[in-house]
Amino acid sequence: MANSPNKGLHVGLIMDGNGRWAQARGLPRTEGHGRGADAVRRAVEAAPELGITTLTLYAFSADNWRRPAGEVSVLMGLLESFLVRERENCRRRGVRLGLIGRRDRLSPALVRAIEAAEHATGEGTRLYLRLAVDYSGRSAILAAAAALRPDEHCDESGFLRRVNHACHSDLETPQVDLIIRTSGEQRLSDFLLFESAYAELMFIETLWPDFDGADLRRAVEAFRRRERRYGGVSSSNGNPAVELAIAG
Ligand code: IPE
Ligand code: IPE
Ligand code: MG
Repeated sequence: MANSPNKGLHVGLIMDGNGRWAQARGLPRTEGHGRGADAVRRAVEAAPELGITTLTLYAFSADNWRRPAGEVSVLMGLLESFLVRERENCRRRGVRLGLIGRRDRLSPALVRAIEAAEHATGEGTRLYLRLAVDYSGRSAILAAAAALRPDEHCDESGFLRRVNHACHSDLETPQVDLIIRTSGEQRLSDFLLFESAYAELMFIETLWPDFDGADLRRAVEAFRRRERRYGGVSSSNGNPAVELAIAG
């Protein structure tokens, strides 16, 4: 079945390639992270017009703590200034900001910036923007499973709510429709593992700091041309009822 253009999409973006972008220009890796913040703004601006209602951006994985302390500190500083700077912009555009992931290993100043951004933008309904920070898909699943009572029955949508709750995403958030990873790498790196059961995956060569609204548009257009079968059969191939309807 073709994808309905009217249904709000949940898109996940693995923003990869900042370091390579900088290294290709003889710059320190952290310069790439700085430029990556501009690409975030472009993606957020473009998303609502493309029918995206939830956008989850992978900003810092739980495994990214393995990076050199200096790089981690630049990334955390950029996040904090992004939240402070973009808060009002998001509020005006109807963008609701939320952070998914652990908060107990972040600095108090960053947690304050997150809470202030969540509070200021809480009324936004045009786009739910989730920044994944200190995030691990496996940890979210483990935490959701650990919170179940031994005799508790939980269906998939109930468990999805638990997974979201486990990473501080308490707004009703659907399964992810499309995951885009920049920089040519083809893996999920622990991103939205439960939510991506039937996600379409798209790997593009563009390095994250070069990503813009046109890249996002192309990806969403390609997604809408794909057929999602969810384990069934093609609606135009091998389904007699549909073939009859087309023939008739
Ligand atoms: C993505 O870019 C940013 C984060 C993971 C925080 P990278 O820093 O991973 O860039 P490459 O993959 O080394 O080029
Ligand atoms: C994944 O990118 C995490 C983010 C984009 C925030 P990495 O660059 O950390 O992933 P690996 O190490 O290449 O799998
Ligand atoms: Mg990388």
